[in-house]
Amino acid sequence: MKNPSVVSFFITLLAAAVFTHGKEPVKDTAGNSLNAGELYFIQPVKTKSKNGGGLVPAAITVLPFCPLGITQTLLPYQPGLPVGFVLPLGVRSTVMTSSAVNIEFRANIWPFCKEFSKFWEVDDSSSAPMEPSILIGGKLGEQNSSFKIEKAGEGARANVYKLTTFYGTVGAIPGVWLSAPQLIVTNDTAKTLLVKFKKVDDATRTAATSSSRVENLGLRMFPFYY
Ligand SMILES: *[C@@H]1O[C@H](CO)[C@@H](O)[C@H](O)[C@H]1NC(C)=O
Ligand SMILES: *[C@@H]1O[C@H](CO)[C@@H](O)[C@H](O)[C@H]1NC(C)=O
Repeated sequence: MKNPSVVSFFITLLAAAVFTHGKEPVKDTAGNSLNAGELYFIQPVKTKSKNGGGLVPAAITVLPFCPLGITQTLLPYQPGLPVGFVLPLGVRSTVMTSSAVNIEFRANIWPFCKEFSKFWEVDDSSSAPMEPSILIGGKLGEQNSSFKIEKAGEGARANVYKLTTFYGTVGAIPGVWLSAPQLIVTNDTAKTLLVKFKKVDDATRTAATSSSRVENLGLRMFPFYY
């Protein structure tokens, strides 16, 4: 093989075959593979104690408000704020289990903490609590902004997942505002947050550009909304 591009093509194929071993496409609530080109609501799976809506960015300290954290809205009919997934290599567009992904809130209207990116990250600063918060303001390529999606259910709960990080599993604890569940990293399996991915349909996607619709979508970024 003289053509270097052919060689690198086969190396890429080989690498893809090796690295996808034991991995499978993550499925949305309709059973379709998660695609990096689409938008999804991340929704905690309802348990007796947790019966709210989807995940939204929210202030997690009284002052300063920024950077924002991530909270499950207490309003059961609010689907959350859409997220998109960014895959590191860009070779394929299907989001696989046990593979590094970046998670980003996608909203046209984003009134607060504009100086931060919309990527999720783990607070790995020296002042972080024992169970560090998930914050908004991550960067592609940084360890604290890398997540993995792992299967967490079988049978009727086959499309149920958990998120993991380099620092532990994503869980939830009662937050500062009316105890709405706030996302943190933990090793305590009792706190593990189980989630499902609901695809944002095209109608919602288009309508999401209007501010009244964003209100309806439950863009509850400020504590006053709880
Ligand atoms: C994430 O990691 C980067 C690079 O080490 C660091 O600059 C940044 O402060 C970290 N973010 C948090 C919230 O800990
Ligand atoms: C979870 O356990 C690992 C390995 O012991 C440790 O490095 C990490 O800091 C722990 N994370 C939390 C949030 O307790």
